[in-house]
Order: sequence, then structure tokens, then C-alpha cells
Amino acid sequence: MASSCYETDRHRRRVASFVRLIAESLGFNPVLCESLWAAALEHQKFRLARLRTNDFAITGSAGMILHRFAGGTSDFGPEIESAAAILRTCDALDEAVEFSPYNAQPLRVALEDFLLDTELCPDEVISALRELIRPFATTEPAERLPVLPSAATALLRVQSDSVSAAELAGIAEQDPVFAKRLLGLANSAAFGPPNEIRSICDAVLRIGVPLAHKSLFAASLGPLFASGKLRALWHHSQEIAAIAHQLASQCGCHPHEAWLAGLLHDIGLLVFASRSSAECAREEAFRRAGFPRAYAETIVWGIDHATTGADLLARWNVPSDLVEAVRYHAAPELSDSPLAALLYIANGIDRDVNEPGPLASRFRLATALSLTNLPASAVESISRESPIFAIAC
Ligand SMILES: [Fe+2]
Ligand SMILES: [Fe+2]
Repeated sequence: MASSCYETDRHRRRVASFVRLIAESLGFNPVLCESLWAAALEHQKFRLARLRTNDFAITGSAGMILHRFAGGTSDFGPEIESAAAILRTCDALDEAVEFSPYNAQPLRVALEDFLLDTELCPDEVISALRELIRPFATTEPAERLPVLPSAATALLRVQSDSVSAAELAGIAEQDPVFAKRLLGLANSAAFGPPNEIRSICDAVLRIGVPLAHKSLFAASLGPLFASGKLRALWHHSQEIAAIAHQLASQCGCHPHEAWLAGLLHDIGLLVFASRSSAECAREEAFRRAGFPRAYAETIVWGIDHATTGADLLARWNVPSDLVEAVRYHAAPELSDSPLAALLYIANGIDRDVNEPGPLASRFRLATALSLTNLPASAVESISRESPIFAIAC
């Protein structure tokens, strides 16, 4: 459970965010808020004994707060005492969340358990944390949920390995965008030497039924991600779908299922994107302060995008294996689904370097590799030359 320096640094930054918000909500004066914030940023840089004696000479209130935080006996008065209690509480809260993956405990449950077990923490600090952390919310008004486009519904119903080229051509002919998409792909260099294809059925045959099916499904889902801020998410979803497809057969997963799961795994983010911009900004601020996405989401929305997405897919009548994989794609230790583990691994390959990585990332990667039986070197077997990457739109 040893934390890397990077994780320790993120822990300190998260604790600093918590303490500042709590101190502000309890009406601390701005100077003391700043001192508490500074103390939080230092609180794990040194051993407790050094913090207690303050032999690194952090001056002023921050040093006094660290002294009391570390169990030092000098009495600096009630304000410093309260500040040290806030630091102790926020530090313990973040540690409880940080270690929850090792206990196979959902992040939400770790937060709730901590707020229930208040014996050692001052009541006013726990109340302020309860105000800050939104209560668990599973239901979204139905009218605010995205609707699965009808062509995508039809394509989900047909089996990728038994659908005929004529059936797919029939679906594509209903929408000029789909038809154009298939013809564009069939005439692209990714699918062989130039040979002008004009009929949709010929296009399906040239691309191959399984890839034409995927291409149509992606084209039918794409409009849900049409707004500017969702384009990067759409690109990421298609990338994860292609990576999962490439690795699927090595871990006993069905490649088409893996592709679908990849395409749909972050669909919960669509639900969040339609919410109030003030709350979205609050979530982003937490992420900038070192909170991994699921952690920030749980604080701000009371639920993370994986759970939200899985609930939406269940509503869309997507097969339960896919729903399970999406629900646990960010926490593979909570499920025995190899597909969830595969999504976790794929997300590690296509990770945004500007985004704080998940908690317990090494432990989770080891868990995911063991659930999928994939060697760590499997990642190197991915070929971006494969046509599965070419169908992205
Ligand atoms: Fe995700
Ligand atoms: Fe993702």
C-alpha cells in the first residue's frame, strides 16, 4: 500500500482543498484559512516526529497547526486547535478513500462510512463535510437522460456475427449520413486499393459485415457527442473501443462485445455534461486539485460516471454483461468481470496526461491483468494499423 511520491503529492493537494473549503464554510478568517491550507500541503512531507518539533521551521500559524496535528503538546489556543482538528479529519477522510480499493469498498461507501463514524472528529467539521459532499443520488429525471437513437437500438438487436450484408445495407439506406459513411470507408485506402464502390451493399461487403456493423453503430451514436466539448470524449470512446477489440480475444472476451463496451463505457459523462455549468466547474476544480475523476464526481454529483452510465445503459436495455463492465470500468476490483478489467486496462493506455490518474492505480492494474489473464506486455501487441482503428468517425 506504499504510496508513490506522486500519489502522496496528490493526497496533500486534496487534503489542502478539503481543509480550505471546510475552514471557509466554518467562517475562519482568511489568514487562518491560508495557514491551514499551507499546513495541509506540508502535512506528509516529513515524519510526524519532525512535524511535532517543527525542526524544519515552518513559521507562524501553519507551523503551530502542524505541531498540534502531529500530536505536539504546546497549547496555541482554540483557533489553532480547531484548525488542527480540521486537518486531522480531512487527512483521515482522504486516506479512507485512498485505501478503499484495497478493501474492495466502493468510493461512495468509503465516504459514507467515514461520515457516519464520527467519534474522533469534531461534529462541526463532519457537518461541514456533509454539506460539501453531495448525498448519494441514483435517479435522474427521465426527461434529462439521453435517448438511444433508433438506428443504434436496431443495430444492438442484430447479432454482429449473424447479420447479413443486405440487412446492414437496409439500415444504412435509411439515413444518408450512414450511407455516406459506409461508402467513404469502402473507398478509403484502409480497405484496399482504389476500386470505386457505389452501392451500399458492395460497400458492406468490401468493409466486411462485422466492421460495417460497428461503423454504422458508431455513426448512429456519434450525434449524441456532437457538441464541441464532447468531441474529445467521443474520440476517446472510439479509441477505447478499438483497443478493447484488439485485446479481447487474448482474455476470453468477445471482440464485438468488448468494442461495444469500449464505445459506451463513458456514456455517463454525457449525462453529467448536460447539468448546470456551475456544478461542472466545481467538479473540474476538484480534478485540477488532484482528485481523480470518480472521486470528484462523487463529491459533486453524489455518484460517478461509471454508475450513471451503467444505469443509463440498463434503461436502454443493453445486455447485462455490458452494463456490468461499464459499471466497474474504473474499479475492476469490485467485480469479477474480465470485460470491466479490460476496459480499465484500455483506459490506462489512452489516459489523458493532464487528468489525475485513478486511485491505487498499480494495484488496480495488477487486479485487472489478473482478471483478464493478460500479460503486461499485451499492450505492445496493439496495432494501430488495424482497420478497427480506421472506422472511427
Ligand atoms: Fe470512465
Ligand atoms: Fe474512459
